[in-house]
Amino acid sequence: MTFATILLEKRKGVGLITLNRPKALNALNSELIYEINLALDDLENDQTIGCIVLTGSEKAFAAGADIKEMAELTFPNIYFDDFFSLADRIAQRRKPLIAAVSGYALGGGCELALMCDFIYCADNAKFALPEVTLGVIPGIGGTQRLTLAIGKAKAMEMCLTARQMQAAEAEQSGLVARVFSKEELLEQTLQAAEKIAEKSRVSTIMIKESINRAFEVSLAEGLRFERRMFHSVFATLDQKEGMQAFIDKRPAQFKHQ
Ligand code: CAA
Repeated sequence: MTFATILLEKRKGVGLITLNRPKALNALNSELIYEINLALDDLENDQTIGCIVLTGSEKAFAAGADIKEMAELTFPNIYFDDFFSLADRIAQRRKPLIAAVSGYALGGGCELALMCDFIYCADNAKFALPEVTLGVIPGIGGTQRLTLAIGKAKAMEMCLTARQMQAAEAEQSGLVARVFSKEELLEQTLQAAEKIAEKSRVSTIMIKESINRAFEVSLAEGLRFERRMFHSVFATLDQKEGMQAFIDKRPAQFKHQ
């Protein structure tokens, strides 16, 4: 598969999507969002893939939605086309998705990282929702997912002032899971992704689904959902294999069944 705006590689159970519009600092135009979804369709259907990593360049994960593409759009254009609705599909994927963020993750770039299940970033990472400076507001989930990730005070401040948050604060605030040097970021992310890909896919997808439930339903409902999911894994061969492997003191060989 060849693409104009991204690169797609597969290795050791991991799909790696690299945003590749260097001249525009990986700004998210319609083609790029379309191609990310094409690549994700392929990776979701590929039985050998257990985890997906999304990354950019050292200077920019993505500097936002493509301002040059949006500048002349009118309300009827974007309303009738439901502009950015294709981007929502990225967040609806079932396999675990990790963002490896180096440099700028601004506007739609920050929102794209927030659509992933967790973010690792480099020590040069800069996160911001600067849409207010363009006379617009975040449009790919920023006001919602950033608030869920770091709380109202910081989300309000970031969206209203457009200030950039550096890597250390992003880690302290719970926006990113871990910070690495920019030289180490991708390797560390791929290693984590490989560990996830080795696990039973039934478990990893259920964990993702259960954690995401926490953002949608009451605690009682979420606990009930988790308990039923837990009960159901006892119908899998992977539960038998995982527990038998522990007893036999050997690594488990999951079949995702
Ligand atoms: N859209 C389109 N082009 C962009 C872009 C964007 N979001 N960000 C950068 N570029 C382009 C620049 O126009 C420039 O192209 P030319 O060489 O053709 O002029 C090229 O990328 C390099 O950018 P700079 O010369 O500006 O590089 P810099 O190092 O001086 O600055 C930057 C880097 C601080 C990231 C700066 O480019 C910038 O502020 N970019 C815009 C950030 C932004 O406002 N993002 C939010 C977009 S709106 C949005 O995302 C809405 C939403 O919620 C979905």
